[in-house]
Amino acid sequence: MRVIVVALALVSGGANAAGTDPAGMTSGEVPRYEVSCPSAATAAERCEIDAGTYAGWAFYSRYCESCHGRDAAGRGAAPGLLDRVLGEGGYHRMHFVVANGHEGVDGIMPSWAHQRAVVEHLDNIYRYLSARANGDLPAGNPRPPEE
Ligand code: HEC
Repeated sequence: MRVIVVALALVSGGANAAGTDPAGMTSGEVPRYEVSCPSAATAAERCEIDAGTYAGWAFYSRYCESCHGRDAAGRGAAPGLLDRVLGEGGYHRMHFVVANGHEGVDGIMPSWAHQRAVVEHLDNIYRYLSARANGDLPAGNPRPPEE
């Protein structure tokens, strides 16, 4: 059983007291996820994942997958997100791009500022994307966490 808990503290975030609003936008920390898979090569549905990361997958599937592809691997004009989200820079860039939209060489990324579900779950979407990007959550549909 592989248990992975990722806590990437921001270098500039200072000494954040543990437990301060982990999903909050102002916590100064990159959101953490908890994923536990029987082995690295397993399907996502065999892993145990925390509720935030599961919600992130659900909201990603609903709002982002049509352009960024299944499992965030990229599709058509929209880039894969897995190599872009890691670390402090990737976290802040995701917030910035999703809030403001972005017109770049690949195409146009719409702003999501008006879409409350996306704004409220952006940290959860980040949890899902970073778990995928770190290789801790395999591709596929995860199963809902047990209560
Ligand atoms: C209508 C298609 C579309 C949808 C839906 C969409 N995106 Fe994008 N996104 C794009 C395109 C195209 C780009 C590339 C823009 C460029 O740089 O040329 C992009 C770029 C990005 C980037 C920046 C990557 C980088 O560092 O350059 C992030 C982060 C991102 N999208 C996240 C999201 C998230 C999160 C969602 C869901 C809430 C989402 N996108 C939904 C089309 C889309």
